[in-house]
Amino acid sequence: MELIILLGAPGAGKGTHALRLAEARCIPQIATGDLLRQQVREQTPLGSQAKEFMDQGQLVPDVIVIKMIQERLSRPDVARGALLDGFPRTLAQAEALSRVVPPGVSIRVIALDVADELLLERLVGRRSCPGCGAAYHIRFAPPKQEGVCDRCQTTLIQRSDDKAETVAPRLKAFHEHTAPLLAYYAKQGLLSHVDASQPVEAVYRDLVQQLAAQP
Ligand code: AP5
Repeated sequence: MELIILLGAPGAGKGTHALRLAEARCIPQIATGDLLRQQVREQTPLGSQAKEFMDQGQLVPDVIVIKMIQERLSRPDVARGALLDGFPRTLAQAEALSRVVPPGVSIRVIALDVADELLLERLVGRRSCPGCGAAYHIRFAPPKQEGVCDRCQTTLIQRSDDKAETVAPRLKAFHEHTAPLLAYYAKQGLLSHVDASQPVEAVYRDLVQQLAAQP
C-alpha cells in the first residue's frame, strides 16, 4: 500500500497533476477541497459549516476535515493506497494521519514549489469543471472550446475562492499552517521537492521521476 501526499500552496498544481498521477498508479485521488465543495453543493450541515471558512480563504477546522478524511480513507478503494491532494494541511492533520496509516505503508511526500507571485496569476485565471473537477487556465491551459470542459463537456466556472481578494488569505494560511509540514516530513526523511513553476509537462515528468527514485 502506498500513500502519496502532494504538498503545495494554492495554485501550485496539486489538482492538475493529482488525477493523472493517481490514475497512472491505479490508486484513488482524494482531494479534501473537492470533498468539501461537494458537501457545500449538497448543502449538508458539514458543508454549511465549511463554507464560511472556505469563502474567506481560511482553513476549515481540523476536527471537521480529520473526521471527513478518516471516513474517506476507510473505504475499500483505498486498499492499494491513495494520493492525497490538499491533506494534510496542518500539523494536527499530519499527526492524525500518521495515527490511521497502518505500519509498513510506503509514504512519499512531494512538495510542489512555486513562488507566490506566480500563484496569484494561476488562481485568478483558473477555470474549473464542476462535473469532473478538471482545472483549466484561461492563458496557460485553455480548454479546446472556450468555457467548456474537454473531458465531460460541462460548462466551466470560476471558483468563488479564486477571486483576487480571497487568494491573499489562502496564501497566508498556507505559509502559517501548511509550510511547517515541510520540515515535519523532511525530518522523517519522507520529503522530496519538485520545481512546480516549470511548464505542466516538465512538472509531471519530475513528479514521476521523484516517485520512481524513492524507495
Ligand atoms: P483546495 O481545493 O484544496 O484548494 P487549494 O489548496 O487552495 O489548491 P487549489 O485547488 O487552489 O490549487 P492546486 O494546487 O490544486 O492548483 P491547480 O492544479 O488547480 O481547498 C480549497 C479550500 O478548502 C481551502 O482554502 C480550505 O478552506 C478548504 N480545505 C481544503 N482542504 C483542507 C484541509 N486539509 N484543511 C483545512 N481546510 C481545507 O492549478 C491552478 C491553476 O494553475 C490552474 O488554472 C492550472 O491550469 C494552472 N497551472 C497548474 N500548473 C501549472 C503550470 N505548471 N504552469 C502553468 N499553469 C499551471
